[in-house]
Amino acid sequence: MSQDVRLTVAAQLERARARTKLLTDAVDDADLVRQHSPIMSPLVWDLAHVGNQEELWLVRDVGGRDPVRHDIDELYDAFKHPRRDRPALPLLNPGEARAYVGQVRDKVLDVLDHVRLDERRLVSNGFAFGMIVQHEQQHDETMLATHQLRLGAPVLSADPPPPAPVAVSGEVLVPAGPFTMGTDIEPWALDNERPAHPVAVAAYFIDAAPVTNAQYAGFVAAGGYDDPRWWSARGWAHRQEAGLTAPMHWQREGDEWAYTRFGRTSRLVADEPVVHVCFFEAEAYAAWAGRRLPTEAEWEKAARFDPATGRSRRFPWGDEEPAARHANLGQRHLAPAPAGAYPEGASPLGVHQLIGDVWEWVDSGFEPYPGFQMFPYAEYSQVFFGGDYKVLRGGSFGTDAAACRGTFRNWDHPIRRQIFSGFRTARDAGPDAS
Ligand code: AVJ
Ligand code: FE
Repeated sequence: MSQDVRLTVAAQLERARARTKLLTDAVDDADLVRQHSPIMSPLVWDLAHVGNQEELWLVRDVGGRDPVRHDIDELYDAFKHPRRDRPALPLLNPGEARAYVGQVRDKVLDVLDHVRLDERRLVSNGFAFGMIVQHEQQHDETMLATHQLRLGAPVLSADPPPPAPVAVSGEVLVPAGPFTMGTDIEPWALDNERPAHPVAVAAYFIDAAPVTNAQYAGFVAAGGYDDPRWWSARGWAHRQEAGLTAPMHWQREGDEWAYTRFGRTSRLVADEPVVHVCFFEAEAYAAWAGRRLPTEAEWEKAARFDPATGRSRRFPWGDEEPAARHANLGQRHLAPAPAGAYPEGASPLGVHQLIGDVWEWVDSGFEPYPGFQMFPYAEYSQVFFGGDYKVLRGGSFGTDAAACRGTFRNWDHPIRRQIFSGFRTARDAGPDAS
């Protein structure tokens, strides 16, 4: 058992680092230290921050070893310096940052060989290592979002997503009844996913697939951005102030919409999930369509509830780890896949593409579950509870499988749209539906 965990951890650390390397080696040093947007860090900050978190938790805490660098913790503490100030800090330069993350990793692999994995809760089932793997993968997704904001010639490429073997549209009825939300057993689940707890949910309909570009373009063409009826008061104020007229990265080309993705511009693909919308845009689209966003519990019930057994699965398709046939994850394709591309990843009730493709905004703030216990540090989840955040679920094409599961919770400010964010809609089913 513990040898298996060690092998899994080593392989996952290696995979995360290969991704980090690809994203940071893709650009030159000048580009690594440049800030592409005031809401993003320079890539070289993410790189050294990933190494610093790994050093704090795995070299010093778990390993009890001497620091690799004792003088840079403050520079890479995300709470000490807002993103817009990070380029002006005396950061490690690209060569130093690469050397640093390599030295940390060498020590960590030695710690992994010697640590007892059952001694402390922090390391049982390899949790601390899993937390650091997820942390690096989360920053890899953030770095991919930075790449999307970067101007200039394209530097990333990947195979296109698979075509859709089935047509998926319309909605699915989820019958009323309680289900188990959250988890006690997922070994690398983060504190905010715990504990498992029953939630009563009334019957509802939920879209069988995420809202597509074609559907969203219908809202734009119908004047949705100019009609305050569809927007919440805050949403409308933001739409006015920010001058929103379409999703981020859309541009008009004659009568058509084009979209620029990682430096390449092409015609908008009709049946791809819409991406780079903020919560307020998602909310307005849903109102225009005569619908609403699902709650977080509704999203998770659609993703995990197995009506045959009444239990909650790890993923819509079952308990198996995500494979390429299940979902568009892991930056394997640098775009969302069309609706219907993953029939093998559908839930038992027939809801598709809940995992991968685009993060899905839900109409819930980021709050602790009943019985929440902070573990192992307050700055991962706890300090964000009750803040101005909305939850996103399911992961995107930029999310690694190690940082994505049916219980995984992401959150961001409702105005943010640099992330790979889309949504699906829902509606109440009423008492006679179930
Ligand atoms: C969970 C994605 C909101 O990127 O801000 C990274 C993850 N926490 N480093 C973020 C995280 C600390 C976090 N999100
Ligand atoms: Fe971080």
